[in-house]
Amino acid sequence: MDFSFDINKLFREEITLIDNRLQPCRQHGIDRYGFQQLQKMLYEVVDKMGDASAKAQGLHGSITTGKKLELANHHLYLMIDGSGNDGKGSALGILKVGRKKLFVYDSLKVQHELDPLCILDFYVHESRQRMGCGRRLFDFMLSKENIRVEHLAIDRPSPKFLSFLKKHYGLDSTIPQVNNFVIFQNFFSNRNDGR
Ligand code: ACO
Repeated sequence: MDFSFDINKLFREEITLIDNRLQPCRQHGIDRYGFQQLQKMLYEVVDKMGDASAKAQGLHGSITTGKKLELANHHLYLMIDGSGNDGKGSALGILKVGRKKLFVYDSLKVQHELDPLCILDFYVHESRQRMGCGRRLFDFMLSKENIRVEHLAIDRPSPKFLSFLKKHYGLDSTIPQVNNFVIFQNFFSNRNDGR
């Protein structure tokens, strides 16, 4: 996805982690006005990618917006191709994670109250799907969050996402839940964070 401005000014790496401190806008020597200009650009990129994700999933409203990111304690991983759009950079994908308090059933139908890390939104631009971008973004997140894939809870995964998890991580067999979240076998095994 392309923008009229140079997104490389905001995102210096292929994948950037953004939380409610909006780190990409806090650049060395920048004054309040400069911060606000960068924040406006950041919001535009996040809002447009959030809209595209909602559209791809057939949702009525966006799960991911700049404003929501600032208000919640979530982590958004944003992937770019710095050489796209004639050197101004193109946004390729987003992956949003956050902890949520959930009541989760194990395979014996015993309920547990946990606050697992949840996958809340995941999208790769249509022009780059099935080229390995999703895998790179997901692996980066797993490493940064220091978490095993089977310990994640997934909020309403789409068929494409289920296929992705099966192909790349061998996740296939789910433990039935009564909410919209999907968890897989081994979700309860060796959870070292106790949640
Ligand atoms: N149909 C079926 N499976 C697909 C498709 C598709 N159109 N696209 C990707 N996949 C799965 C397949 O397993 C595919 O492997 P294959 O090509 O050998 O069949 C694998 O993903 C490809 O892996 P990557 O290239 O690493 O993944 P990609 O960059 O395509 O990103 C993603 C995967 C994010 C699911 C992407 O397809 C996408 O944005 N889809 C639309 C939005 C969406 O459904 N997001 C998940 C919503 S649920 C949530 O966010 C909690």
